[in-house]
Amino acid sequence: MPIQRTFSIIKPDATKRNLTGKINAVIEESGLRIVAQRRIRMTVAQAQNFYIEHAERPFYGELVEFMTSEPVVVQVLEGKNAIKHYRDVMGATNPADADAGTIRAEFALSLGENSAHGSDSEASAAREIGCFFSEADITG
Ligand code: RTP
Ligand code: MG
Repeated sequence: MPIQRTFSIIKPDATKRNLTGKINAVIEESGLRIVAQRRIRMTVAQAQNFYIEHAERPFYGELVEFMTSEPVVVQVLEGKNAIKHYRDVMGATNPADADAGTIRAEFALSLGENSAHGSDSEASAAREIGCFFSEADITG
């Protein structure tokens, strides 16, 4: 299995409830390494661009509003098969469908306020990392 990088966001519902450390513990215990991390307040333009693939979906406006409502923690995670592995560690988009022990099962509030984002492909990971980090920000 290849060593990969994936892009993660600890979303506003989680930063608001002081869950950054608990979510980072789940990430690290799963074997992923946090190789870059920054707490930011996303601008509306950043959120719109980040979720541009969902621009035509009915929940797009609500999603942008949510992602800019409180600070988020943007991260680069590294590890074996990191993209798929982190999707498994997060659990299903809707916490009601997420397996026990996953970030979303443990911490998410709802389908929208679901505590974490993870890239869904190599192309998305490269694009999403580039939205928030330069190579110089990422340490091995
Ligand atoms: P993410 O991109 O945040 O990692 O989540 P995902 O791949 O599991 O889900 P995706 O389909 O890409 O949806 C992006 C985010 O939009 C919110 N959402 N709201 N109200 C709704 O019907 C709805 N559906 C999706 C969630 O915050 C989801 O994570
Ligand atoms: Mg997605």
